[in-house]
Amino acid sequence: MALILGIESSCDETAVAVIDGAAPTLERRIVAQRIASQDEAHRPYGGVVPEIAARAHAEVIAPMVGATLADAGLALADMDAIAATAGPGLIGGVMVGLVTGKALAMAAGKPLLAINHLEGHALSPRLADPTLQYPYLLLLVSGGHCQIIEVQGLGAYCRLATTIDDALGEAFDKTAKILGLGYPGGPAVERLAREGDARAVPLPRPLLGTAEPHFSFAGLKSAVMRARDAGTFAAADIAASFQQAAIDCVVDRTRRAVAQCGPVTALVVAGGVAANAAIRAALQGVAAESGLSLVAPPPKLCTDNAAMIGWAGAERFAMGYSDSLDVAARPRWPL
Ligand code: KG4
Ligand code: ZN
Repeated sequence: MALILGIESSCDETAVAVIDGAAPTLERRIVAQRIASQDEAHRPYGGVVPEIAARAHAEVIAPMVGATLADAGLALADMDAIAATAGPGLIGGVMVGLVTGKALAMAAGKPLLAINHLEGHALSPRLADPTLQYPYLLLLVSGGHCQIIEVQGLGAYCRLATTIDDALGEAFDKTAKILGLGYPGGPAVERLAREGDARAVPLPRPLLGTAEPHFSFAGLKSAVMRARDAGTFAAADIAASFQQAAIDCVVDRTRRAVAQCGPVTALVVAGGVAANAAIRAALQGVAAESGLSLVAPPPKLCTDNAAMIGWAGAERFAMGYSDSLDVAARPRWPL
């Protein structure tokens, strides 16, 4: 039984989890987890302020490690390894979590696993669904990333597409800001969109139909701003029309990637935007068309959490990997 302590602090959630890598079900794999959101601290600024984030992580991380271990009824000495996010992300926050992980690894004499946050998202569907096998086609949609990746195995990632400007989560967050819905924006846009008419506002679908399955959302965001400035559309109609335009792009791009990739076991969606029910439903359709099943982690495992970092650590630990205690935090770290 491999017990892994996972630590995540790359953006605005401080999270700690204890993962049992050998357990057969999701419920038993996550022995304990805690997430401290910094939403309140950043709300007045309409987005994440890196300096505030780093200080907030530093304040809560050590007590959270203690509390999560206590929840699990386990001690640090019971852990087989410590897995901490080493990037990509806001460097101050990443350093807080990684230094904490190093200190715990050193104190307990356990191996350190320096985890790529994107690998955490990419493998989270395997934490959620123990039957999911490599290779699978992954749509990774978060606040900072928008990619389609053929996940061929642990550490074997072939990127088929990326965004040429904004990430999808960023487009949701900017739309929320334009509509005055506050921060964080994605869930607020999704809620308001339920009350609106998705056909009310004509909005562009950037890159729709192009040969490579890349994404672009900057033009959509500008069009949302123009629609608001026109003063003739209800906010709910703009939100619904924006979400529909985004979904049309995601569906078209994913369809294209499915046609281009090698044989895969499933279509998988992960990252914060994968919490969006309308996007999940649309992707269900794309998967069905191609005779694939859609694997989407429960919404709580889509947004940032430490269970996915602990799980990536468990997969790496099982393969015999570990990292040196002088591994550096990386603000940028492509998969
Ligand atoms: O994965 P995540 O928690 O952090 C990053 O690694 O970026 O993703 C956060 C992003 C934010 O842009 C947030 O607005 C978006 O995911 N998001 C959503 C929803 N929930 C979170 N976007 C659309 N609909 C949602 N329900
Ligand atoms: Zn993330």
